[in-house]
Amino acid sequence: MHVDLLITHAVQLLTIPAHDHGPQRGDRLGDLAIIEDGALAVSSGAIVDRGPTVDLAAKVQADQTIDADGRVVMPGFVDPHTHVIFAGDRANEFERRIAGATYMEIMNAGGGIMSTVRATRAANVDELVVQTRARLDRMLQHGTTTVEAKTGYGLDTATELKMLDVIARLDAEHPIDLIPTFLGAHAIPAEYTGREDEYTDLVVSEMLPAIASRILQPASCFVDVFCEDGAFNLEQSRRILARAKELGFGLKIHVDEFEPLGGTRLGVELGAVSVDHVVTTPQDEIELLGRSKTIAVSLPGTPFGLAQRDYTPAKAILAAGGALAIATDLNPGTTWNESMQMIIALACRYLKLTQAQALAAATINAACAIGRGESIGSLEIGKQADVLIMDVRDYRSIGYQYGTNLVRTVIKHGRVVYSKQGANI
Ligand code: NIG
Ligand code: FE
Repeated sequence: MHVDLLITHAVQLLTIPAHDHGPQRGDRLGDLAIIEDGALAVSSGAIVDRGPTVDLAAKVQADQTIDADGRVVMPGFVDPHTHVIFAGDRANEFERRIAGATYMEIMNAGGGIMSTVRATRAANVDELVVQTRARLDRMLQHGTTTVEAKTGYGLDTATELKMLDVIARLDAEHPIDLIPTFLGAHAIPAEYTGREDEYTDLVVSEMLPAIASRILQPASCFVDVFCEDGAFNLEQSRRILARAKELGFGLKIHVDEFEPLGGTRLGVELGAVSVDHVVTTPQDEIELLGRSKTIAVSLPGTPFGLAQRDYTPAKAILAAGGALAIATDLNPGTTWNESMQMIIALACRYLKLTQAQALAAATINAACAIGRGESIGSLEIGKQADVLIMDVRDYRSIGYQYGTNLVRTVIKHGRVVYSKQGANI
């Protein structure tokens, strides 16, 4: 067989398979399906074969061979929850939080999300593309090959559409694939203070139809709501998501980050692809989630970034049979972290995931959480060749070592898009 690319001598080729074409659930999370001294064959951007190096070397001729030379090879990280499109920064608010102000206090005083909304409204598409591209470059260098990107710093129809344009432009020009999510219901904009239902009306009757007519395939785009005290209550969240569902969008919902409002139950009821944050979720809703197809996306960078004590009850979700993914939640307010390696390090320590569980949560389960489980997230034949060569000789170093970039080479769609020189092993 003739192929474009052959990667050989992976000390551990982590294939991290889908289970029944879906995520790894409950106590089955952490199935890395390792091939020792493994090899991977790639043609036209897709995985065409894999197996022990001796077997593949005997049957495959390749235009290009990369010798992993005893390193770990694995699927590219999928980051299924980000607010990566924004202008400016909120370093001043971080200083205020260090001094004792809470995230919600700053938000209620007109800062927080509204402060980024003002900067994002003022920026044009080119400025947003330039600022976001720099973040995507660093995400790629840290091994992220697909990113879900939310709007939600516009909060008016024109700026929300502008953010979707930025996502489309970056998706076209950057090696990272971007999956769009409309989050017009991220906050009540200042000009609607005290008129929350009117803003909800605007999202339902003006923004959603405008987005639907702009997006060619609503099923490949998500609609999300921040269901939280001070943002959208349960009834407002239901109205927005129910309309989005009618229009054919996939659904996501921020739930139980601070106050449990019943958002997890709502997400499950409406068939959301994911419920995200899931920190203060009551046990009965965890049970409900565990029996559903909805994936819990945990964002451990957020409590870490806010120096809070409570994290997603991952063990309880897994004990209930649930599917768990992890993501950065990259945003300028709570957690400006671009690295899924950092999220794995946090998930091992605060969610008490094994490193194998965290790796599956950051790849195949993360892919399923953005509806892409059939095409990315694992090293299986027929899937897109999004592959990392890690600068470690055992996967159990990936959560253990943190704070430096362990990625040596990033391959996206079968093409080397990043390579570190002078690697440390
Ligand atoms: O997921 N929860 C809402 N949104 C973000 C914070 C966004 C911001 O502060 O700008 C989050 O934590
Ligand atoms: Fe978020």
